Amino acid sequence: MSEKILVTGANGQIGKVLTAALREKYGRKNVIASDIVKTPADNEPYLFLDILNKTRLYEIVEDHNITQVFHLAAILSANGEWNPLKTWNINLNGLITILELAKEKKLKKVFFPSTIAVFGRTTPRVDTPQAVPLEPETIYGISKVSGELLCNYYHQKYGIDVRSIRYPGIIGYQSIPHGGTTDYAVEIFHSALKGETYECFLAPDTRLPMMYIPDAIRATIELMEAPVENIKTRTSYNLASMSFSPAEIYAEIKKNLPEAQITYQPDFRQEIAASWTESIDDSQARADWGWAPAYDLSAMTKDMIEQIEKLYFQHH
Ligand code: SER
Repeated sequence: MSEKILVTGANGQIGKVLTAALREKYGRKNVIASDIVKTPADNEPYLFLDILNKTRLYEIVEDHNITQVFHLAAILSANGEWNPLKTWNINLNGLITILELAKEKKLKKVFFPSTIAVFGRTTPRVDTPQAVPLEPETIYGISKVSGELLCNYYHQKYGIDVRSIRYPGIIGYQSIPHGGTTDYAVEIFHSALKGETYECFLAPDTRLPMMYIPDAIRATIELMEAPVENIKTRTSYNLASMSFSPAEIYAEIKKNLPEAQITYQPDFRQEIAASWTESIDDSQARADWGWAPAYDLSAMTKDMIEQIEKLYFQHH
């Protein structure tokens, strides 16, 4: 039987690009995008979906004979702090609905995105191993730790084939992140290319794990297509490619765009970033399903600049 895929949160930073990649692979009509905004043009097939609307979710899965769900709908780390209970509700109860659905409708596979935000101040900061204390301080991190444990639980208890990655901060040109702590690493490119001084909301030396979006999308698809016996971690896989600070990415951008300017005005997001770790040991993902990143800081920076220049050139 062919696959029929539902993507939730399909308008988000990862969702937009992942949906396009899945459509390349499985055919446009076999990948249904959904999100809590009205149908955007050029994104068909698209369905309006509030992830807390269980009835609607069940209808969609039945009507379209969905076989896999990529469940990306969530509120991110910085925005989560403005409304913790809403964040818990969407991030956790949304996932529970999907996992119950997977059980009842016998979905073949589910993807759940986790994050470096599951780490906290008791986690080793450098080359953070796979199995570590997870005591996050943000409600987003708390919801994602709980989500990882739920995924593992549904796998052990009901045999649900749910797979997960702890994404680093994601940098991409096709979409803009909303309400995350790592968003600066996307914004800084747009400011540089517009000739504006970038006011960075993190301090210059705040190093975080990051990844270029083509790597993140490829990792997701490779994880989901790996033979089931290779998937040995059922909470969520550490995943890494590069780590940098605002000062380091600024220096790299300046090599390509010497006019680029930055100032620093750390806000509440600085504390969130400081509670995370700075680099990740992803040897388990490499060993289990052959993960290897393609982009480092310099290759990513060059490509980002080229791609955003193209966007601005086409649109203005
Ligand atoms: N990039 C995300 C955030 O900042 C981490 O999951 O919230």
